[in-house]
Amino acid sequence: MRFDPWNPDFVASPYAVYDELRRDAPVSFFEPTGQWLIARHADVNALLRDRRLGRSYLHLATHEEFGREPEPEFQEPFWRVVNAGMLDVEPPVHTRLRRLVSKAFTPRMVESMRPRVRAIVERLVDDFVEKGGGDLIAEVAEPLPVTVIAEMLGVPDADRHLLRPWSADICGMYELNPSQEAQHTAVRAASEFSDYLKDLARARKAAPGEDLISALAQIEELTEDELVGTCVLLLNAGHEATVNVTGNGWWSLFRNPSELVRLREDLSLLPTAIEELMRYDTPLQMFERWVLEDIEVGGVAIPKGVEVALLFGSANRDPEVFDEPDTLDVGRADNPHISFGAGIHFCLGAPLARIELVESFGALLRRAPAMELTSEPVWNPGYIIRGLRSLEVSCD
Ligand code: HEM
Repeated sequence: MRFDPWNPDFVASPYAVYDELRRDAPVSFFEPTGQWLIARHADVNALLRDRRLGRSYLHLATHEEFGREPEPEFQEPFWRVVNAGMLDVEPPVHTRLRRLVSKAFTPRMVESMRPRVRAIVERLVDDFVEKGGGDLIAEVAEPLPVTVIAEMLGVPDADRHLLRPWSADICGMYELNPSQEAQHTAVRAASEFSDYLKDLARARKAAPGEDLISALAQIEELTEDELVGTCVLLLNAGHEATVNVTGNGWWSLFRNPSELVRLREDLSLLPTAIEELMRYDTPLQMFERWVLEDIEVGGVAIPKGVEVALLFGSANRDPEVFDEPDTLDVGRADNPHISFGAGIHFCLGAPLARIELVESFGALLRRAPAMELTSEPVWNPGYIIRGLRSLEVSCD
């Protein structure tokens, strides 16, 4: 098999192909997308921190000046939202936005969520165990992070069912070469979500609550577009990956039963186990960067104006960095995985994600000590945001 992000077999198991890339072609041109694939941990890590690359080039040049086609006009509502969030801008705007949002998204605020996260987990896991199991993705993995981030932001209960479909539709645009239909769906979702958040933010500005939208709405320096972009980013980034760490993580444990037993017998391993599950089957397989100046990677010249595709899943299995990288070791102590990124865009939500994952894996390990798989899971088609469609288990 070769690198083929549209092939379901590759998506289900990309690791042997990554081994070959790291060994034989650690920096290689991928014709179908016109990107340079970067497979080794050292290169991925260095490029994430290298300011000669960026998630955007629009702070330096227009599309035309950078030799790129402008986005089609119908996509304007989508890019308006996405380009107003910190993830898709570069300094100085990124620095300003990240500083402002960090003011509201403080470590204290995140840590204060722990009891709420625990309560939400307990309710979900109780219901799940009581009925003997079911689809772990739909019944625990998805509702947990969506509920947590919706509560933090202050999205009313009655509207929460809208969030997951909006987020999933928006994320459709992030896959490689999205179809016309996926593009239109993403644009529609971004417009609807944006209108919804504008109304909510106006209401909270007039009558603030204790939530994050109220806090953001009080920050005068944040424009309305930036506030909307930030909320969409927090809602999307705040749950898509966590869902997939839960699903992929349990699937990894079921395939490595001795590690599952080891963890069940010693729950003090939970923090290292969560990091290892994120390394072993990375939920976000690839991140892209624009090359803003000519660079050289591993002796290969890469010209300004192209994109590099940083293969996180490959970096996380690099034998130069990890002993026995293909072995799942829930007690792995030295684990510099790259799943939360690196450099200026390092995941702002990492502390919250860790709380959610430790609480949910812990509750399931305690309350469902005999949980086992009842059918072979199926992967979603997406490669970049890579996760299971469902994970059927029994808890009896
Ligand atoms: C296990 C779950 C998660 C994973 C694996 C993850 C991964 C990542 C990665 C890799 C990036 C950097 C992308 C890049 O450099 O191109 C990122 C950025 C970000 N993440 Fe997460 N994330 C997770 C959970 C969360 C949560 C729960 C939140 C918030 C509630 C969140 C909010 C963000 C934000 C705001 C950024 C943008 C930071 C910036 O551009 O400065 N993430 N995340």
